[in-house]
Amino acid sequence: MDQESKVPLRGGIQDWPGDNEVLLELGEGERAENYWSLRDAFEGAQVFGGTGSGKSSGSGQALARAFLAANLGGLVLTAKTDEAAAWRKMAEEEGRSEDLIEVTLEGRFQFNFLRYELNRPGVGAGHTESLVNLFCAVLESAEKRQGQMGGGDAYWNRALRQLLRNAIDLAVLALEDVDLSSLYEIIASAPTSREETRDEGWQESSACFALLQAAQAKHTDGNRAEDLKLVAAYFLREFAGLANETRSVVVSTFTSMADCFMRGALRKLFCEGLNYSPEDCFDGKIIVLNLPVKEFHELGQFAQVLFKFVWQRAVERRIPVDTDRRMAQETIRPVFLFADESQFFVNSYDALFQSTARSSRACTVYLTQNLPTYFSAFGGANGRQEAESFLGNLQTKIAHANGDPATNLWMADSIGRTRQIQLSGGMSEGGMGPGRTSFNQTAGGNLVYEYPVQPAEFTTLATGGPDHGYQVGAIIFQGGRSWLPDGQKPRNFIRHLFSQKP
Ligand SMILES: Nc1ncnc2c1ncn2[C@@H]1O[C@H](COP(=O)(O)OP(=O)(O)OP(=O)(O)O)[C@@H](O)[C@H]1O
Ligand SMILES: [Mg+2]
Repeated sequence: MDQESKVPLRGGIQDWPGDNEVLLELGEGERAENYWSLRDAFEGAQVFGGTGSGKSSGSGQALARAFLAANLGGLVLTAKTDEAAAWRKMAEEEGRSEDLIEVTLEGRFQFNFLRYELNRPGVGAGHTESLVNLFCAVLESAEKRQGQMGGGDAYWNRALRQLLRNAIDLAVLALEDVDLSSLYEIIASAPTSREETRDEGWQESSACFALLQAAQAKHTDGNRAEDLKLVAAYFLREFAGLANETRSVVVSTFTSMADCFMRGALRKLFCEGLNYSPEDCFDGKIIVLNLPVKEFHELGQFAQVLFKFVWQRAVERRIPVDTDRRMAQETIRPVFLFADESQFFVNSYDALFQSTARSSRACTVYLTQNLPTYFSAFGGANGRQEAESFLGNLQTKIAHANGDPATNLWMADSIGRTRQIQLSGGMSEGGMGPGRTSFNQTAGGNLVYEYPVQPAEFTTLATGGPDHGYQVGAIIFQGGRSWLPDGQKPRNFIRHLFSQKP
């Protein structure tokens, strides 16, 4: 491969570490067995810890700094209002200020997602489906939060996808373009009964009907005419014939989301200009979405989940198919995805993304308080399974102090039980003769299966601050990994103290 066709490197050389080089040194003393490298990072990390346990200032900060120092590109999602400032500070201290793209309401950085999706290379017939997936990923996170439709409900999901697919196709057939306001107009003015489709008043006022007519005038034969027949049949018969309640839930699910993007701040940020994109991260940029959920609520959540999804898919398709592993190491910059308070951002796509993250050279780090917050974030009847399957895909689990019994037990169980010999022994007075006593000694051992880390131990880890010498305690487990904490006996977990001070 010649230099020109490579993924752009700064100054034409690789400026990030090799996959096996150390990112973090864990445990005490420097031991190669306890290094945590890019290869480990590609397998994903989940941090758990109760409020004030030191997640953000302890392991979160250590990982963030390691990624910055290693010159990775990345995407940062924010929930709390002080997070962007913390990243600004860390970037400055690690010499990465120039690489920050901080997306704020002020609107200097804009990402018109539809224009990006429609113009990016490598799309063809898959267009409609990729937009449907994008909208559904955003809606999934929001729906579950509102508990409106019951997540994972296949029927609603199908109904919504069908509506989106037809609306997008209608916009393309009639207007040769898709923008959010035309989708909104189409969906909001679609017929609400079969009688209405024959009503002249509706026909005159409905954007949906007007576009169907315009498309019919344009496409009288060929494939597009056939496509249009399907779209017309959907809106005028199937959609119009849906039960009122079904239709109104499906419509309002879409319109409430679209509404957020069509007005005010989000319109400027996501529906107007296009001056940054996920691809910037492949050249070392760090995109910080400073639209914290705690301040902007669902606006912040919609916007960040949308961008995260687009970013994940860009990361997945960035490695040319014929790239071998060594070539990838040297030419494809690793990227990270970092979300503190990740319960606001997770959705089912994360599990899928994580399953191929290693080959796409992406390091996901999610921080949240406990398992129950994840179960409810995934929502619906399958929430628990989805959350567990997602967590199974993030190999490194870092647990800080936690008062949640479910999380503590789950961590203890992940580490597992080991065979231990429980020693017992004693002495008893034996037969007595005149002037002397004899003693019997007994000693024995029972084979028992015990937690090497008891669930209760997670309640006692150091939580930083002056009382703990600014140290944050953690117990770290990594699937399939053997650590050498004391230099002698391999173990499947390691204890580590993270410093809160840079
Ligand atoms: N840089 C720092 N130096 C000293 N103490 C700090 C620092 N950052 C945070 N702390 C304190 O350490 C404790 C842990 O803070 P931290 O914000 O990291 O916890 P957290 O697990 O992220 O909590 P939350 O769930 O509320 O986000 C808190 O008492 C906090 O006030
Ligand atoms: Mg925090």
